[in-house]
Amino acid sequence: MAHTRTLFCKLCLQASPQARRMGRRGVPIPTRVHCLNANFKAFSLSAKMAEWQTKVPVPKQLLEPLDLPSVHLFGPGPANPSLRTYNAHAMPLLGHLHPEFCKVMDETKAGLKYVFQTNNAYTLAITGSGHAAMEAAIINLVERGERILVCVNGLWGNRARDIAERQGCDVQAIEKPPGEYHTYAEIEQGLKDHKPSVLFLVHSESSSGICQPLDGIGALCHRHNCLIIVDTVASLGGTPFFTDDWDLDCVYTGSQKCLGAPPGISPITFSPRAMAKVNSRELKVPSFYLDIKELGNYWGCDEGPRRFCHTSNAMRLPTVTSIRIPEGFPDWKAVPTYLMKKHKIELVGGLGPTLGKVWRVGFMGHNSSLENVDKFLRLFKEALEAVKNRPKSQI
Ligand SMILES: Cc1ncc(COP(=O)(O)O)c(C=O)c1O
Repeated sequence: MAHTRTLFCKLCLQASPQARRMGRRGVPIPTRVHCLNANFKAFSLSAKMAEWQTKVPVPKQLLEPLDLPSVHLFGPGPANPSLRTYNAHAMPLLGHLHPEFCKVMDETKAGLKYVFQTNNAYTLAITGSGHAAMEAAIINLVERGERILVCVNGLWGNRARDIAERQGCDVQAIEKPPGEYHTYAEIEQGLKDHKPSVLFLVHSESSSGICQPLDGIGALCHRHNCLIIVDTVASLGGTPFFTDDWDLDCVYTGSQKCLGAPPGISPITFSPRAMAKVNSRELKVPSFYLDIKELGNYWGCDEGPRRFCHTSNAMRLPTVTSIRIPEGFPDWKAVPTYLMKKHKIELVGGLGPTLGKVWRVGFMGHNSSLENVDKFLRLFKEALEAVKNRPKSQI
């Protein structure tokens, strides 16, 4: 076993100059998975030489050059990062406690406080997708057996309900049909009826394209002795958002949508009120990896920069637009298929309750320029014209 490990290290070492040369030649390696894949290719020669020692041969497909299409990602995320973001992936790797890396973390933290519009000391990024942040928010703030009230109006509210149930929380829900939002009065009634410790709301229900108004909801929750968690995975950076001004206790998002980075990083912020709850827990947080006190320790969460004020009442989510599929449209999948085949453009259908009822287009981050929106509209119109009377086999 030790020998296999040595062999593996050797292969990686032999591979690294080659992998670096690939990077210098400008081959974009946009995500960690791609990097890993590229490394396999780079060390495949050495691996082949040493194959006699291995029981599992080098997979043939990893010996082929990595060839990925360049797609314009107009779905509800991920969105295409800018060239500047792509290029950042070619920077040297640092150790996780190197002073230079801690400086990068501090700068990132300051940027996240800006984007969340918060002074919360506990503002950081989790290495995991939006689901990891959803789970972190719930498991840090709601203990086993404690009551959480989830506002459901689409797939993501349901997902939060599922996560809370798996943690053994006492989960109650108020449900609205997809395409509707929860009014102040409905939330107030829910708080009175269920008396939860925590309320969960999705700001950007990307399965239906609805933006939940948040004005006054934070203060309302606090009057009912309840904390509030808000999911902004599909909106933060694309709509006005003011964590401190709106009195929100835990807000999280994802890197791959309006923030214009590859997937796999999820910014999150916890208010002092939320941290007081975490500090007074009876039981340990049931995940070490997602324990906010452990994470906060690593991120050096003890200073707090500036604050900013504003409000918003939007109900239609500006970052993800749901386009209703016309009654009697022969085959809704033909439109995304046409756009991908002819123009390498991603458009997706509905999700959960909206499947087959809408197409969803995302204008996020770098993809939300006027030029890109015009391009999408022109080609979407072309796709509708092209497929409306044609069987799928001819697209
Ligand atoms: C509103 C919302 N919440 C949570 C998620 C889950 O994020 P991820 O796919 O990064 O795990 C998504 C993903 O589309 C989302 O739109």
